[in-house]
Amino acid sequence: ARPWRVGLIGFGCVGQGLHDILARHPASGFVISRIVVKSPTKLRPLPASRFEFDATALLADDSLDVLVEVIDDAAAAFTFVAAALRRGRRVVTANKAMLARHLPELVALQRAHGSTLLYEAAVCGSIPVVRTLDAYFGAEPLRRLTGILNGSSNYVLTRMGNSGTDYAPALAQAQQLGFAETDPSLDMGAFDPRAKAVLLAAHAYGVFLDPEQVLNLGIEGIAATDIAFAASRGQKIKVVAGLQRLPDGRVTALVTPQLVGSGSPLFGVDEEFNGVVIEADFAGEQFLRGRGAGGHPTGSAVLADLAALRQGFAYQYAKTAAPPTHATDLEIEIYL
Ligand code: HSE
Repeated sequence: ARPWRVGLIGFGCVGQGLHDILARHPASGFVISRIVVKSPTKLRPLPASRFEFDATALLADDSLDVLVEVIDDAAAAFTFVAAALRRGRRVVTANKAMLARHLPELVALQRAHGSTLLYEAAVCGSIPVVRTLDAYFGAEPLRRLTGILNGSSNYVLTRMGNSGTDYAPALAQAQQLGFAETDPSLDMGAFDPRAKAVLLAAHAYGVFLDPEQVLNLGIEGIAATDIAFAASRGQKIKVVAGLQRLPDGRVTALVTPQLVGSGSPLFGVDEEFNGVVIEADFAGEQFLRGRGAGGHPTGSAVLADLAALRQGFAYQYAKTAAPPTHATDLEIEIYL
C-alpha cells in the first residue's frame, strides 16, 4: 500500500518528535508531506523550504490523507480542528486543553460530517490509555481510575525528593527537557492534568465534564521539608488524579497532591513518567506506566493514532452515566 500523506500543523516538541520518528522509520507507512508553522523567522532544524504558513491550504489539500495538529495555542487549534472535521477530514491532535474545553462539540462535528478525530497523545504521552478505555473497556463498567497524568510536576517532585534540587531549578530542568508546557504554571498548578482527567472521564464513563468541575491543586506550595516529611513516613508526594463512579452512577473527579505509599503502583512512577491504575468491575486492577512527556514518547502516540486511523478506528464514547458532580467525597488523603 502507498504511504499515507500527513499534513502537519505545528513544529514544536511534539511535531519535531513525530518528524524524527518518521525519518528514522521510513517503513512506518506515513510521510509528512506538508508542514505549516506560525513564525517565518524562527530557527528550525529543517531547511526553510520545508515550511509554509497558511493552515487553510492544508484543509483544502485533498491529497493529504490525514491532518496532524500539534500547535500550542488552544484557540487556534480548535479553529483548525473544527474546520477540518467540518470538511470530513481525518485529524489527530495532541492539544489536551483544547479538547477538554470543546470535546462535546468536536464529537458532534464528527457525527455530522463523517470525520474522525483521535488524540492519544493528549493524555499521558506514550501510554495507550485513551484507546484502552474507549475500545478495550468499551463495555465493562469501571469503578475507579487513579493516575499521575503530568510529567513535569512529577519530574520536579522527584528531583526535589531524590537530589534535594530546589523547586525553581527542577522546573527549569523540566522545561529544558521539553516536558513542560510553554506556560509551566499549567503543569505546576495541575491545570494540564485536569484537562487530561476530563478526557479520561469521557472515555471511561461517557461523561463530558467541564474542566472547572474538576478540582485541581498543584505543587507550587510544596517545599523540600514536605517531601522529607512524606519520606519519613515511607511515602512520596505525587499529583494524583482520581476519577470514581459512585454507587448511584455519578462520577467524581479531582487532581491534587497526595501522599502515596509503597503499596500503590503509583509509588514507583517517578521522573517524567506517568501511570494510570484502572479498576474494572470484572477485570480487576490494571496498571499502565510509561513516559508521559517529551517529543519521542508523545510523537509515538501520534504515530499510534495514524496507524489506528489507517485501520479505520474511531472512538465510541460508549459508556453513559448520570450527570457528574464536584468531587468531595473520595476516600483519599489530601495533602495540602
Ligand atoms: N506538560 C505535559 C506534562 C506534557 O508535563 O505532562 C505532556 O502532556
